[in-house]
Amino acid sequence: RGPHELAGVNVVVSAGPTYEDIDPVRFLGNRSSGRMGFAVAEAAAEQGANVTLVAGPVHLSTPRGVRRIDVRSAREMHAAVLSAAAQADIYIAAAAVGDFRPSEIAAHKIKKQGDGGLSLVLTQNPDILADIAGLARRPFLVGFAAETENLEAYARAKLERKRLDLVAANRVGNGLGFETDENAITLISADGAEQLPTAPKCELARDLVGRIAARYRAKRDA
Ligand code: PMT
Repeated sequence: RGPHELAGVNVVVSAGPTYEDIDPVRFLGNRSSGRMGFAVAEAAAEQGANVTLVAGPVHLSTPRGVRRIDVRSAREMHAAVLSAAAQADIYIAAAAVGDFRPSEIAAHKIKKQGDGGLSLVLTQNPDILADIAGLARRPFLVGFAAETENLEAYARAKLERKRLDLVAANRVGNGLGFETDENAITLISADGAEQLPTAPKCELARDLVGRIAARYRAKRDA
């Protein structure tokens, strides 16, 4: 593989969690640190791509040569990704997008309800990847799948349902996937599954981006 396999290619990457506000001091979030998506953005930039990184709330510095757009909620991420996707050749969805948000954001801090509990009513968020997959001019699409069980079967179902080009499936929970330095990915495509060796996220991202680039170019030049 050459050093600049993605020269001139527009790549959009999403990374990190989303935060869904409950009131002015509380939110619903998840354990994503953003490290996997930031490493993917960095690896794509190293390969010469024009990279736009749409980042949820994370504590990470922007990789060299990458254009970064910060967002907080799933709906903000949806708007930023959709607008960047109009120019994208490849979209890599590494963000852990919250599937639900509180139906209403309280204007003031919610107080204790005597001795009683509190029920939150949630509304489903838009599916960013599904909406990109529905565009008339679709970029090459790489989804992630984070599962605690039946990894390959669930990942393959995602690939087929949204007609994705690739799904990077990682097992999460019990110290795997989220927050950690290392990760392991099974790369699923219509023609099979490849196991990428467990490695620090920076190394794994270079391996993953190399494989994405090869498949993107094969499809483009077909
Ligand atoms: O950030 P780190 O701490 O480094 O951890 C990395 C990671 C585990 C978060 C990452 O490797 C990963 O797996 N990201 C995807 C997590 C996830 O939300 O998976 P999912 O199976 O719920 O979603 C499937 C795909 O649909 C993902 O590409 C997701 O970005 C996308 N999605 C999901 C929901 C939604 N509303 N919109 C989406 O686009």
